Amino acid sequence: MEVMHDVVVVGAGCAGMRAAIEAFDAGADVAMISKIHPVRSHSGAAEGGINAALGNASEDDPEKHAFDTVKGSDYLGDQDAIEILCQEAPDDVYQLEHWGAVFSRTPDGRIAQRPFGAAGEPRTAYAADITGHVLIHVLYEQVLKRDIPTYEEYFAWKLVVDDGRCQGVIAWDLLRGGLQSIGAKTVILATGGAGRLYTGTTNAYACTGDGMAMALRAGVALKDMEMMQFHPTTLAPTGVLITEGCRGEGAYLLNAKAERFLVRYAPNAMELASRDVISRAEQTEIDEGRGLNGNVMLDLRHLGAERILERLHGTRELSMTFAGVDPIYEPIPVRPGAHYHMGGVDTDVWGQTSLPGLYAAGEVACVSVHGANRLGGNALMETITYGKRVGRHASEWALANTTVEVPAAVEADAERELKALLDRTAGERPWQIRDELAETMHVNFGVFRREEQMLEQGAIVQSLRERYESVVVEDKGEVFNSDLTQALELGFLLELAECMVVSGIARKESRGAHARPYDYPNRDDEKYLRHTLVTWKDGAVQLDWKPVTMTKWQPQERTY
Ligand code: FUM
Repeated sequence: MEVMHDVVVVGAGCAGMRAAIEAFDAGADVAMISKIHPVRSHSGAAEGGINAALGNASEDDPEKHAFDTVKGSDYLGDQDAIEILCQEAPDDVYQLEHWGAVFSRTPDGRIAQRPFGAAGEPRTAYAADITGHVLIHVLYEQVLKRDIPTYEEYFAWKLVVDDGRCQGVIAWDLLRGGLQSIGAKTVILATGGAGRLYTGTTNAYACTGDGMAMALRAGVALKDMEMMQFHPTTLAPTGVLITEGCRGEGAYLLNAKAERFLVRYAPNAMELASRDVISRAEQTEIDEGRGLNGNVMLDLRHLGAERILERLHGTRELSMTFAGVDPIYEPIPVRPGAHYHMGGVDTDVWGQTSLPGLYAAGEVACVSVHGANRLGGNALMETITYGKRVGRHASEWALANTTVEVPAAVEADAERELKALLDRTAGERPWQIRDELAETMHVNFGVFRREEQMLEQGAIVQSLRERYESVVVEDKGEVFNSDLTQALELGFLLELAECMVVSGIARKESRGAHARPYDYPNRDDEKYLRHTLVTWKDGAVQLDWKPVTMTKWQPQERTY
């Protein structure tokens, strides 16, 4: 049975909920679709904080925030989008506070702000080390207050494209089984990232790039897909995030000789250099034999028990639970892990894509405020500020446009495709392909990239895609068929991996997260101060380029 709304938001993390709230307040009939319960969304895993130039811990202003972000992006960020983010961020944070976000406080009662990597000022507002968790609950309360309907445990699988515009979503009902068409005048993708492309990742199992892949299949371009951020402190062996807030509070990174090795890589900023710089430094120490079992050590002991318990209690719990290490007494073993996709669906500063009626916000989108390297704390801010903006524009567009319809042929095609997959009785199991994909991406498309490894990865992804054609779903049931949804997610991941590899091979320079120290060790602004842009045509990736928007900052050498 078909249902209709003005605006449908796919994904119910911070960006999705903030967009839905804004669309509702603008008068639209809005609904959210989420494959998991909203408060289980991966935004809840963001720990260390949210960046806004509140100036509570130092003289700060949005212009300084914007410059740090532009420099941090290795000049690939679009400066108009960055300026908007940094200008609107303070009011957006105060709104969260007024909605009830329990931020940590300065002694005189203002929102506390801690230093974060590559930020010139202590700018990261935080709620101990569970900031994302706090924000997601505050937003969910606002969603409940407005009674915004949520298609909870619905797996969005396809965008409905008809008459040259996006007209809805086709989703699989996880609880009851069956496909559900949900018509919408505008669809906002807010499905987060695709960290599950890698074995070592901070990302939840749900982060399978669904929105990016759906947009790609609908003919929309993805931008800067080579730019996968590796977070410097992920817990061995699980990949669980150990927040940058530890270093913000003063933790040290040590190698096997107990040296603060960053003195050789970022002598001024040390542990508060940008993430790309620190991840490369760690990987170099590990590769050159100065690591400990493939890790370096994050030492919090000198912070003292009181501070750790007050501001980093979540980190302590994670370390004790997943590594058996109490950071009050012992350093935590950490290594770089896939964390955040700077690339994503190409949008303008209102979240509009090239397909009328289709929008994107948050990590799924590439607006682009992060360029080649994101600053810690800017992702949560982007979800809020751009979630709001995109919700506003999508609702205005929806209210100004008339009816939509999900054509019967589109539904019938989806039913046929799904039936063909479920009717297959023999073939390879999806997990085998998924594990090979994640393991090889980690080796061949990681912190450092070599041309021959990227080419090899391209061939591996091709062969995995061929094997995927005969993948078998053994569970033929209707209720919570995770075998089926994981097979569909794998299809998404394989296409995104191909986009990443093609973009990575084309970018013959080192910039931000894309480090090619063996053949192109330097940034090349003359040739590559531009975005990669990929589309999907006839089963293969087509590469194009797009200029970077510059407002007031010309590229400079980037040191920390
Ligand atoms: O380290 C962290 O707390 C992560 C924050 C972020 O990615 O913005």
